[in-house]
Amino acid sequence: MTPLVGTGDLSQRDALVGGDVSVPVGGEHRRYVDLDAAATTSATAGVVRAVQEFLPWYSSVHRGAGAKSQVTSARYEQARESLLRFVGADPTTHLALFPKNTTEGLNLIAYRLGLTRDDVVLTTAIEHHANLLPWRRHAQVRIVDVDRSGTYDVDAVVAALDQRPTPRVLAVSGASNVTGWLPDLAGIAAAARDRGVLVVVDGAQLVPHRPVDVAALGIDVLVWSGHKMFAPFGAGGLVADRRLLADGEPFLVGGGAVKAVSDDEVVWADTPDRDDAGTPNVVGVVALAAAAEELLAAGERNRVHEDLLVQALDDELGTVPGLRRLGPTSGDRLPVAAFVIDGMPHAEVAHRLAREHGIGVRSGCFCAHPYLSRLFGLTAGEVQQFHDDARADRTDRLPGAVRVSCSSATPLADVATLGEALRALTAGATRPVVTAGQGR
Ligand SMILES: Cc1ncc(COP(=O)(O)O)c(C=O)c1O
Repeated sequence: MTPLVGTGDLSQRDALVGGDVSVPVGGEHRRYVDLDAAATTSATAGVVRAVQEFLPWYSSVHRGAGAKSQVTSARYEQARESLLRFVGADPTTHLALFPKNTTEGLNLIAYRLGLTRDDVVLTTAIEHHANLLPWRRHAQVRIVDVDRSGTYDVDAVVAALDQRPTPRVLAVSGASNVTGWLPDLAGIAAAARDRGVLVVVDGAQLVPHRPVDVAALGIDVLVWSGHKMFAPFGAGGLVADRRLLADGEPFLVGGGAVKAVSDDEVVWADTPDRDDAGTPNVVGVVALAAAAEELLAAGERNRVHEDLLVQALDDELGTVPGLRRLGPTSGDRLPVAAFVIDGMPHAEVAHRLAREHGIGVRSGCFCAHPYLSRLFGLTAGEVQQFHDDARADRTDRLPGAVRVSCSSATPLADVATLGEALRALTAGATRPVVTAGQGR
């Protein structure tokens, strides 16, 4: 495809690689409008530069005596320091690991906490499956429910914390990937800590958008993905209280995680090596650290632009006939919005935005089925029908919504383009044939 140069206003951040790619729309090419940042983000030019500069030095970590191995090992360890600095963690109390993404990080920590079926993990109804299923595998899960607006408050968390048995862990999302809603993390974390409950935060959506201060918030474990913060090279971050990982068998076992192995005994390495079995993704880690340094340098600056994006989304979506937003539409939010349009299946809206307007969005349930069921107000019978349809692969019948999501690099003009496109769609402009029911 022929790239169009200079059509985007990517002045908010170092321009994204591919930010000016064009796609075929009708008989012409148009700049691709990427409104799917909550799913994943392209790399910044700075992240790619960091990777390119590192690649000639790429070698094995910790196991080679050669000069390249020394450089690679040093970069790997520096990246741990970058991540700790990025999230305000004290290196004497916390350490950084590099799971491949949030999902792996949460599975790792759910395993490493040594939970039993007698333990309760308190979580909420807004969670992504990645912050539900690992806990369900190891413990009983208690859920803080949402009200009609799709949110919950600190009092609801306190009430659930005070139920017996007292939870061992509170596992919460820092921001919803569906609605962009931001729970009062400071209040929630303080309530948990007052009761001696460990605080694990799924930072997949929060970390790319807002500075997070682990020490100030009293967070024991924070997990996030590099690919959602401009470092799509396969590494994520896990920052945890060192004491939680000091003992016990690691989640992944193998080379690098041990000091000694005989036929019938293993002497595990000290943390963090214990949780670093196998050859690590150093290139991904270099990219992640570069993205962290860029976001740290941007500080609150991105916030101004993101707040404008939130306002623009509210304004544009508010003028589309028959469009109904899901979740809160006021208060502090990320530039993320989920909606349905009367009489138009969610997948059809997403497909038509792509084909007729060159706009990339997501449709479906966004890996947050319990939250979507609540936002739609599904009855128990309807949820059962949803599961029956899913089992039978009746994807055309599955419930879902459309989600548009921006990053700090999204030009404001892209939100205006979305508004125009949605108005054209609802005004009954040309309708191509579309297969309904994509997205999980
Ligand atoms: C809130 C939240 N948690 C967890 C995840 C899982 O992230 P990953 O797929 O990178 O593991 C996502 C991904 O969309 C998310 O939005």
